[in-house]
Amino acid sequence: MLILGIESSCDETGAAVVEDGRTIRSNIVASQHDLHRPFGGVVPEVAARAHAERITAIVDEALAAAGCTPRDLHGIAVVNRPGLVGALLVGLSAAKGLALAWELPLVAVDHIQAHVYATELAGFSTYPHIALIVSGGHTCLYRVDVPTEMTVLGQTGDDAAGEAFDKVAKMLDLGFPGGPALSRCAEKGDGTAIAFPRCGPNEKPGDTLRFSFSGLKTAVYYRLRDHHKDAPPTEQQRADIAASFQEAACEILVEKTLAACRQTGIAAAAVGGGVACNRRLRALFAERAAREPGTPPVFFPPPALCADNAAMSAGLGWQRLRKGERDALGLDVDPTPRRAKR
Ligand code: KG4
Ligand code: ZN
Repeated sequence: MLILGIESSCDETGAAVVEDGRTIRSNIVASQHDLHRPFGGVVPEVAARAHAERITAIVDEALAAAGCTPRDLHGIAVVNRPGLVGALLVGLSAAKGLALAWELPLVAVDHIQAHVYATELAGFSTYPHIALIVSGGHTCLYRVDVPTEMTVLGQTGDDAAGEAFDKVAKMLDLGFPGGPALSRCAEKGDGTAIAFPRCGPNEKPGDTLRFSFSGLKTAVYYRLRDHHKDAPPTEQQRADIAASFQEAACEILVEKTLAACRQTGIAAAAVGGGVACNRRLRALFAERAAREPGTPPVFFPPPALCADNAAMSAGLGWQRLRKGERDALGLDVDPTPRRAKR
C-alpha cells in the first residue's frame, strides 16, 4: 500500500510517500526558518500562509520523487493534532481536497504519535519499549506496546525541552532556530563550567518521571543577570553557558528515560522529536550504556526522521488504513495535545 502523508503542524511543510508503513519512497520537507528568523520565533499567521503557498508543490514533489502518480496511492494520512491551528488547517484542507478529488480514503494522525512511529520507520521494532519524545512543544515519556498504542508515563509540568533550548538560545543571542544554534555554540564550551540545576520547580515529590525545565531556564537568566550585567559575555563565556545548560538538560532527559525503564522493567528505549537531533544527548545515552552494565540500549532515528516530516505521518496512517479505518471529510483540527492517561 502506498500512502501519501501530509505534515503542517508547525513550521515545516511536509509531504511523503511511504510503502507498507516502512519503506520511505519520498520525504520532502520545506522549512520556513528563513521566514520566521526576523521575528526570533515561529509566527503562526506567517506559518499558515507559507503552508498554503507551498503545500501543492510539495505534494507534487513528493509524488514525483517517489515515481508515482495519484492513481498509485491507496490513501492519505494527515496530521490534524496537536499544533498551530491555522497551520494544521492548511494541511487538513489540502488532504481533504486531494482525498475527494482522487477518491482516496483519508485518516488523521496525531503528531506526537507520529514522532514515536518515526523510530519504527527507522527500523526499531522492539515492543514494548519506552519512548522519549522531545520537541518544541512536547516532552513526554511513553510506554509503547504496539506502534499505535502508547501510555503516558511522564511529561513536563512547564516548558518542553525544545522550548527551553530555544529560550536559552534567545537569551544568549544565538539566532533562530535556537536548539541547533545552541548545540553548535556548546561544542566550543565546557559543559562542567557552571553547575545548573537538574531539578525543576514543577517536579512533584516522588514523581521521578515528571519533567520541569523552567528552573533550569531561569537559572541561565540569573547567571546572565548576575555575572554579565556590565558587559555581555565573551564568546567563550557564552559557549560555557550553552554547554553547561545543554549538559543539564540532556542529563535530565537521560536520567528520567532510564528511570522509566527501571520502573517498568522495560529494557528498550527510543528517542524522537527535534531535540533528538542533539549530538550531546545521543552521546550521553551512549556514555551511560558504556559506563553502567545493564543500561538498556537507546535507539535514535536519523536526524531527518527526528525533526518534523511527513514520512512518519504516512507510516502511522498506514497502520490505521490497513485495518480499514477511515476519517470523514467533516474532520476538524485539534490544536491541543490529548490529555494524558496515567
Ligand atoms: O519535533 P520538532 O521538529 O517540532 C515540534 O514538533 O516542535 O522539534 C523542534 C524543536 C525546536 O525546539 C528545536 O530548537 C529543537 O527541536 N531542536 C534541537 C536541535 N535540533 C532541533 N534542540 C537541541 N539540539 C538540537 N540539535
Ligand atoms: Zn514535531
